[in-house]
Amino acid sequence: MADAQANTDKPLVLRGAYFTFTDDPFQVPYEEAYRYESDGAVVIRDGKIVDAGNADDVLATLTGGYDLADYRGTDKLIMPGFVDCHVHYPQLQVLGAYGTQLLEWLNKYTFVAEQAFADEDYACKVASIFLKESLRVGTTTSAVFCTVHPQSVEAFFSEAEKLDMRMIAGKVCMDRHAPDALTDTAQSAYDDSKALIEKWHNRGRALYAITPRFAPTSTVEQLAACGALRKEFSDVYVQSHLSENVDEIKWVQELFPEQKGYLDVYDHFGLIGERSIYGHCIHLTDDEWRHVHETGTTVVSCPTSNLFLGSGLFDFERAKLGKEPLKTGLSTDVGGGTSLSMLQTLNETYKVAQMRGFSLNAIRAYYLATLGGAESLGLGDTIGSIAPGREADLIVMDLKSTPLIDFRMSHCKDIEEALFVQMTLADDRAIHATYVNGRLAHERG
Ligand code: GUN
Ligand code: ZN
Repeated sequence: MADAQANTDKPLVLRGAYFTFTDDPFQVPYEEAYRYESDGAVVIRDGKIVDAGNADDVLATLTGGYDLADYRGTDKLIMPGFVDCHVHYPQLQVLGAYGTQLLEWLNKYTFVAEQAFADEDYACKVASIFLKESLRVGTTTSAVFCTVHPQSVEAFFSEAEKLDMRMIAGKVCMDRHAPDALTDTAQSAYDDSKALIEKWHNRGRALYAITPRFAPTSTVEQLAACGALRKEFSDVYVQSHLSENVDEIKWVQELFPEQKGYLDVYDHFGLIGERSIYGHCIHLTDDEWRHVHETGTTVVSCPTSNLFLGSGLFDFERAKLGKEPLKTGLSTDVGGGTSLSMLQTLNETYKVAQMRGFSLNAIRAYYLATLGGAESLGLGDTIGSIAPGREADLIVMDLKSTPLIDFRMSHCKDIEEALFVQMTLADDRAIHATYVNGRLAHERG
């Protein structure tokens, strides 16, 4: 049906029910933060959404004709694509590795797997698998860790460019506490990252993130080099890990005795603040929490990973509804996490919040996975919602993707309940189609 492309003379119209956010459901009554249009039309031209609303109103303005992708009916829902704010593409081959917590898991599985990415052809192959799988599960933007090898970044951005996907990525910097085959130096991390920034940052839809892996694997010289680079290129991102695991935190204190705590290590080197994205952030102290809040640093929760590696339970209620709210994204953290699907991630997010006595409703949950994630990356005006001017990264959900879900849906009274059932029961089979920059990039079956 939908082989139409958006960048011909005629616009492309996706017709059907759609759901999007118009506001932050943690800031305003959540019922007022979204738009659900049961007979909607989304108009796309040159990769961008140019209009959206009730189909009769919208289509009446299209006097010059249009190409149509027709998703009318009771079982499809057009939504913004998902945003995964922290994921490691080179870890696909250690997904679901048994029996360890963070520090042992890194040494036993991860640092072994990542060595293979010295080979650019292999890196291209895995990047392609990762990106296609992302499309299959409805994720259109991710913030991605590559490996220490610059060629792993070349491979990733080249493959993402072929698919025209908006991706944030960076070369991992680590110059200690890792196998020799996976270490760089302060100088080479600086030089290689700089060359990659100059080549890739803002090329097409690519955005660069300076990526010190985490404090224990960088010397002070390397963290200083990352900070210097950050100063030179103030609009690039920084991404790393923070306060994921109690043994990790103890180790950081031993390695950096002159700093007050884990966050202070990054702060000292100018690596926190706007566009600084920190995965996990489970065990922040009260002072650290306040400082993250005050500096506008982004935290990213990784629920499937935090359960799988036994790291702990992120405090969603405090992060989003407390008196010191944090810019918060959501992520899969594959390979610590167990699925690239943001639907499955929402499933675990709900349970993590429940374990801390907080019920995260569906509206707030999908916000974190779409516009909220985009906002946390400073991309809320670019992606994450269905509104004029936004890039047309969209998914079409199949709300009846299995017989059981079909039956369960027949007992849903409204869109909120329907969305909750999807995030609790559905998986990749619920992603009927994925549009990237206005083009159909994946269609199920
Ligand atoms: N901390 C440092 N590196 C990693 C990683 O690859 N995965 C996770 N979950 N935590 C980390
Ligand atoms: Zn991670």
